[in-house]
Amino acid sequence: MSWKTDFLLTWYDQHKRKLPWRDRNDAYGIWVSEIMLQQTRVDTVIPYYLRWMERFPTLNVLAHAQETEVVRYWEGLGYYSRARNLRRGAGEVLERFGGQIPDNLTQLRSIAGIGEYTAGAILSIAFHARVPAVDGNVLRIISRLENIGDDIAKPAVKRQITALVADKVPHDRPGDFNQALMDLGASICIPRTPLCSQCPLSGDCRAYALGTERTLPLKAPKNKPEPVYVAAGVLRDATGRFLLRQRPQQGLLAGMWEFPGIERPDRHAHIQELQEFFTPAAESLVITENNRLDMTHTFSHRRWFIRFYFIEGDFSKIAVPDSKWIEPAACDQLPFAGPHRQAALHYCTNIG
Ligand code: ADE
Repeated sequence: MSWKTDFLLTWYDQHKRKLPWRDRNDAYGIWVSEIMLQQTRVDTVIPYYLRWMERFPTLNVLAHAQETEVVRYWEGLGYYSRARNLRRGAGEVLERFGGQIPDNLTQLRSIAGIGEYTAGAILSIAFHARVPAVDGNVLRIISRLENIGDDIAKPAVKRQITALVADKVPHDRPGDFNQALMDLGASICIPRTPLCSQCPLSGDCRAYALGTERTLPLKAPKNKPEPVYVAAGVLRDATGRFLLRQRPQQGLLAGMWEFPGIERPDRHAHIQELQEFFTPAAESLVITENNRLDMTHTFSHRRWFIRFYFIEGDFSKIAVPDSKWIEPAACDQLPFAGPHRQAALHYCTNIG
């Protein structure tokens, strides 16, 4: 590749974003930030990162925290296995490496949740090692600089691009180089409509020369998220407690808490079905459309069309597996699934 790393680094020196994890270049801080930033925008991550660092300022604190609390601090960021792995990984570093995050690729890769990209970011930013950190931004930038028209989701194309970047990482500023590419991808070499007139590398960009910058990179079309229709009951007893159910430990939103209800692949359950779900013996529950709250929530592979019903009546015969009556103060501590906390807030204003 003929583009000049100096142009990129000079641009970075002038334009780099001020980000909280750039104020502390320790491996733990970098690790947390990189895991949060996977599939998630910088603006979204910043408040989560700051709150996290107040509560779990060191690897030791994180390793000894309860999983439920760790997931609570992640609530809203999605892909919750990232939080669980981060806590598990912290425990592994404590046990296997005496609390020191390793500074070599093999050992880093052996830790829960650390893949090729995260290892590259930690090694280059925290330990100044000359390794690439190739994420979606970097794939996009290089596919344009080199006018690569193959699908960047293919492992062989990723390998090809990683090898090209590995050759370019400078000895003196590897972490800055990788972060400069991330910033360039976030602000200039953006998807669909790159701002080439402001790009420090446009003079050496093959796509820019050929006019293909808007059509690259090529990506196979994504499958549409599968719809799931959820009808959930918000039951609040006379003391203000909510009936909440814990989701299974495997699968979507594993172990998180929600208002119990019924999922259907093709339509919402009827009120009558909801009634039977809560009280199979046909006791008296009052379910009406009056106090219904509708929401949509999209995950990577699924889209929830969710209807919450505020339900009153006699709760003495309620039989819902894996559910518990929870005090409002305790609701604050539990990780809620997707839009369920918003529903709790809608029906009860004293939950944070
Ligand atoms: N995206 C992923 N990692 C990043 C970092 N260290 N700085 C900015 N954006 C990023």
